[in-house]
Amino acid sequence: MQESESVKKKNRYIILKLIAAAAAVFAVLGAASFPFKTVYYEVSAEGIGESVRIVQISDLHSERYGKNMQNLIKAIDSTSPDIIVLTGDIYDDVLPKDNTTALLSDIGCRYPCFYVAGNHEFRTPKWVEFKAEAEALGVHVLEGDNVNINGITICGAARAADNSIGWADSVAKCADDLNSAPSSDDPLDTEQTRDNTGNSSDFTVLLCHFSEDIDFYRSFGKFDLILCGHAHGGQWRLPFSQNGLYSPGEGIFPKYSGGRFDFDDSCMIVSRGLCRTKTLFPRIFNNPELVVIDLVNN
Ligand SMILES: [Fe+2]
Repeated sequence: MQESESVKKKNRYIILKLIAAAAAVFAVLGAASFPFKTVYYEVSAEGIGESVRIVQISDLHSERYGKNMQNLIKAIDSTSPDIIVLTGDIYDDVLPKDNTTALLSDIGCRYPCFYVAGNHEFRTPKWVEFKAEAEALGVHVLEGDNVNINGITICGAARAADNSIGWADSVAKCADDLNSAPSSDDPLDTEQTRDNTGNSSDFTVLLCHFSEDIDFYRSFGKFDLILCGHAHGGQWRLPFSQNGLYSPGEGIFPKYSGGRFDFDDSCMIVSRGLCRTKTLFPRIFNNPELVVIDLVNN
């Protein structure tokens, strides 16, 4: 009897040691995945004049990056963007908005910024209020709207804050509107933002939060570059692998959780996002990222 108790005690000790070792490994891997990285892509864009640099911010979830978001803002400034796009879940339905507001109040007045909502914006009725705040800060919130700028057309597809249009109809509207010139009351429909002919430019960039719907986006045959987020890189990744462990849209072993995907007719870039502390599990081998895309005519 005494011997049996001794064996049980020894087994418990071994299990506790294994749990402690696993926790230590997770802590080290999580810490290594904490700093954000700036990731660069080059995309061929026939028909544009000068090269255009797009910086993509996605899935921030009101994460803090230094006092007044200066760490992130300095990283953005160092890349000298022509355009900044925000592909959803920038504002968060649960967390305080201060960090998101600090970021938008800085970049909104210094760069052309285009914002499409993600699922976390729509989880709260406060999105209507925050959308107005973002626009007052100089950020253009797109809900099925196209804008011509720097020789390209930005198509922003999202469910409208007032529910006047849904996700799928918003994408379809962007595709349909590519056939027509922007209306004259478009705030960016100026000589500066239109090409020499006054028509929509040939190279189109679709902003939509959800990467898992890539087949739907491609079905229109209109979008050259598609920028998404949502999957947070799959949260855990194997080193040097393209795919992560889990995404909310695709489940386990998602196909489109982060990185670049080239198709015959288009290219999709999926940001791994910038959220790092407000998730249930830490990121592993999956640093948050700021995405920089150079559109080049070659
Ligand atoms: Fe999302």
